[in-house]
Amino acid sequence: MAIVIFGASPAAPPWSLLYAIGALAALWWAWRALERVWIRPLRLGRALRAQGLGGTAYRFPSGDMKEYVRLAMAARSQSMPLRSHAIAPRAVPFDHSILRQHGQVAVTWLGSEPRVILSDPKLIREILANKHGQFGKQRSTAWIERMLANGLTAHQGKKWVVHRRIINHAFHLEKLEVSSKSATCCIMNFSIRYYPILACFETELIRRWHDSVGAGDVDKIDIWPEFQNLTGDVISRAAFGSSFSEGRRIFQLQSEQAQNAVKMVHLMYIPGHNRRAETVLLRWNGTTAVLLTWTMVVLSMHPEWQDRAREEVLRVFGKSQPDSEGINHLRIVTMVLYEVLRLYPPILLVSRETYQKSELGGVEYPPGVTFTLPIVCIHHDPDVWGEDVDRFRPERFAEGVSKASKDAPAFFPFGWGPKICVGQNFALLEAKIGLAMILQHFLFELSPSYSHAPCAVSTLQPQYGAQIKLKKL
Ligand code: HEM
Repeated sequence: MAIVIFGASPAAPPWSLLYAIGALAALWWAWRALERVWIRPLRLGRALRAQGLGGTAYRFPSGDMKEYVRLAMAARSQSMPLRSHAIAPRAVPFDHSILRQHGQVAVTWLGSEPRVILSDPKLIREILANKHGQFGKQRSTAWIERMLANGLTAHQGKKWVVHRRIINHAFHLEKLEVSSKSATCCIMNFSIRYYPILACFETELIRRWHDSVGAGDVDKIDIWPEFQNLTGDVISRAAFGSSFSEGRRIFQLQSEQAQNAVKMVHLMYIPGHNRRAETVLLRWNGTTAVLLTWTMVVLSMHPEWQDRAREEVLRVFGKSQPDSEGINHLRIVTMVLYEVLRLYPPILLVSRETYQKSELGGVEYPPGVTFTLPIVCIHHDPDVWGEDVDRFRPERFAEGVSKASKDAPAFFPFGWGPKICVGQNFALLEAKIGLAMILQHFLFELSPSYSHAPCAVSTLQPQYGAQIKLKKL
């Protein structure tokens, strides 16, 4: 009779050992999760409050996300009165309300991550100058940067330095004549042919508008998609040369991705996957379209400035195509663009993260704290700009940017420090040429169907479009 001894086989799994390892792993994972969403936020919150910082207390598990979404939805449900430029409560309702309640530096919670909102221009410059390398781009949002194929902005450290140098170089080589048909430079296969392209496309826009206006007034043109297509074409031509239709398709796809990402971010407030993603959508594509759109909207609201800008353009260029020499003499147009950039900054906020223990304004921050720098709130701060802060007064820039605000420079539409916008000169040039050509050919005013509703969709966009009535000059 055969005797079978159970458990004596050398191949039998040591179940109790496996169970023990599994239980330990589960315990470790649970401890890590608890540490991340409960213990760490409470510890960080206590440490920051002990140093005198105001702000919200951490609420498990989503922090301030519910309030953030609630305020955003409430703000979007109502339009603003026409000619009102106090856009901060509508564009960034949560940040605006936190700063009002808690002062210039306030702690909030994106899920379980601490997010410090900061609106003191001096501290902002300190962060963006990043002298000791302790404040970097947010690491946790790199996946969205990759998704949006954002190039330079997604890079860090040495890789960023190399890419930045190449692109800076490319932008600086652009010292060519507006009228030159052969202006081209190639740097590592990146061909730049700005001026002829600008001239060519602005002309296309003007010609098309001319045709649609016909003999009399056009009821309305939604200039927002018009400018998106135009600036997409311009940059596509610059980057892709003749295959601009392919470039345009890429820009359209990027735009759709940005909108989907914002929707997704609004839907989720799970700890770990948080709204910081929204700030990563600070992509440059389309920012010049934003600037041109708000400039036409604001000049429609202030016809006296539209007239002044047009007088200047006609004095400098008459009805001929703008050239680089004349562009440098557009003083009123420049003041108008700066004031629009102040009141309607296309990029509403930028963010940084502490990479190491850092001291700022007498407070010590641990690594991993996000700073949100709401450009739009600083641009609308009466302590910095005076009681007329929400009025459209281009003359405040009459003596340049540094004299426009009470304090030292508090004008950040293009950022500041080493990561300042690489395309700012290009964007301003494009906007000046575009605006000059429009002023040369058309009078414009708001259509009765226009609803004033600036809102944040990665950039500052008109929620219901920007319908404008045009009249040929
Ligand atoms: C009115 C138009 C524009 C505005 C308001 C604007 C604004 C900004 C801001 C605020 C930043 C800094 C982001 C940060 O510090 O995190 C930035 C960065 C950047 N911008 Fe612009 N931008 C504009 C147009 C453009 C254009 C036309 C281009 C390129 C053709 C461009 C390319 C870039 C790039 C590559 C960066 C990243 C720089 C780096 O990380 O070193 N921008 N922009």
